[in-house]
Amino acid sequence: MKKLLILIVFPVSTLIFSYAFAQTTEHIHKPHPHKHKQYAKVKNPVPMTEESIAKGKRLYEKHCVSCHGESGRGSEKTDLTDELWIHGDTDGEIFHVITDGTKGPAPMKGFKKELTKEMRWHLVNYIKSLKKTEENGE
Ligand code: HEC
Repeated sequence: MKKLLILIVFPVSTLIFSYAFAQTTEHIHKPHPHKHKQYAKVKNPVPMTEESIAKGKRLYEKHCVSCHGESGRGSEKTDLTDELWIHGDTDGEIFHVITDGTKGPAPMKGFKKELTKEMRWHLVNYIKSLKKTEENGE
C-alpha cells in the first residue's frame, strides 16, 4: 500500500512543482517567436514622421548600435531588419522590449530609466523605418 501511495504522490507533486516553477519563470522562454498580446494592443502615440525617425536614429546610434550594428542588422540574434520578430512585431511589443528588456539565454536590458517614453517611441519608429525603406539592401 505504501508503495502505491509513493507511486501516486510522487508524480503528482512533480507536476505541481513544475507548474509552480513555470509560473515564476513565465517570462523566460526559449528564443522562438511569440506574441505579447497585452503589449501588442498598446498604440504608438508618436506619428512616424521623418522628424521622429531622425530622433530615433540619433538615439539608436548612441544606445543601441553597439549590439544591433550600424544598419540594424547586428548578428543573427540582434537583427532588427529581418522578418523575424522574436518578441512580436507590433509597435507596442517593440516598445515593450526597449522598455523592459528581455529575459532569456541572451537577454537585453531595458531602457526604462535611461530613456523617456517619447524617446522609446521614436526608437520604435526608427526601427520600423529600417525595414520599410530596405536601405540596407538585399
Ligand atoms: C548590450 C547589447 C544590446 C543593446 C545595447 C541593445 N540591445 Fe536590443 N537586443 C539585444 C539582444 C541580445 C536581443 C535578443 C534578445 C532576446 O531575443 O531575448 C535584443 C533584442 C531586441 C529587440 C527584439 C527583436 C526581436 O526579434 O523581437 C528589439 C526591438 C531591440 N533589441 C531594440 C533595441 C533598441 C532600440 C536598443 C537601444 C535603445 C537596444 N535594443 C539595445 C542586445 C542589445
